[in-house]
Amino acid sequence: MTITTQENVNIKPDTKGGQNNKEGKKAKHVFEVSDLNLWYGSKQALYEVNMKVPENQVTAIIGPSGCGKSTYLKTLNRMVEMVPSVKTSGSIKYKGKEIFSESFGVEDLRTKVGMVFQKPNPFPKSIYDNVAYGPRIHGIKKKAQLDQIVEKSLRGAAIWDEVKDRLNEKAFGLSGGQQQRICIARALAIEPDVILMDEPTSALDPISTAKVEELVQELKKEYSIIIVTHNMQQAARISDKTAFFLNGDMIEFTDTDELFSNPSDKRTEDYITGRFG
Ligand SMILES: Nc1ncnc2c1ncn2[C@@H]1O[C@H](COP(=O)(O)OP(=O)(O)OP(=O)(O)O)[C@@H](O)[C@H]1O
Ligand SMILES: [Mg+2]
Repeated sequence: MTITTQENVNIKPDTKGGQNNKEGKKAKHVFEVSDLNLWYGSKQALYEVNMKVPENQVTAIIGPSGCGKSTYLKTLNRMVEMVPSVKTSGSIKYKGKEIFSESFGVEDLRTKVGMVFQKPNPFPKSIYDNVAYGPRIHGIKKKAQLDQIVEKSLRGAAIWDEVKDRLNEKAFGLSGGQQQRICIARALAIEPDVILMDEPTSALDPISTAKVEELVQELKKEYSIIIVTHNMQQAARISDKTAFFLNGDMIEFTDTDELFSNPSDKRTEDYITGRFG
């Protein structure tokens, strides 16, 4: 298959403390979403969404409750299809390849596009087994190799030092913020390219939230991140691009600084200034 759909875009110089070393370089898109519609039965939840998601950046999705943020996120790894009544139209290309085509196996897609949920959801297993779960499913059996993946993933999720002496204890025994980072480690262990995060800090205290936010900045060096958040300060702090959704429409998608300082749509302005509804 020829990959012809990726365009290059100019990335603005980094304004967020030097984490992004993309200055002067060209970036690609991990996802190119075109005219995406989605229905739950007869109820339409997404309307003609178009979006090019940049690689190695953080893309935030904001908007009021029920506007389709989670639906959209779960469409990107086809998890939304677990709801039997779901129908979609349009196109989503992941690195140039159509994810709705038969030739793109859904398991393959979910290996590339990992997900972290709002509520930390560790399995009722040890910390070690939570992180080793995905690699084991993918056929990795050697203890030494699993040890290595578990350590690397826990380090990647900035929780290694806190758990390295208790890897065989149940993950449920950790705090909520620690459990969320275990879930991030579990997502990293399958070596995805993209990490989808659906309100990953909404159940966390401010200190754990700050840790996850720092982690997101770190992770974007290696991964592309799409994060749903109700917290607009959080979107402004950690994301490079922001999309505003309303009633299933994507109203505006642009550089985060631009969206929050100079929104082009009145509805975006009303929402970000709290004058909504
Ligand atoms: N399984 C489902 N079956 C039918 N309708 C659904 C289902 N899941 C979501 N919806 C509907 O789709 C619309 C979008 O829901 P979604 O969960 O994507 O919103 P959201 O923006 O994530 O909201 P929140 O901020 O509250 O999490 C809503 O009207 C919702 O009721
Ligand atoms: Mg949601």
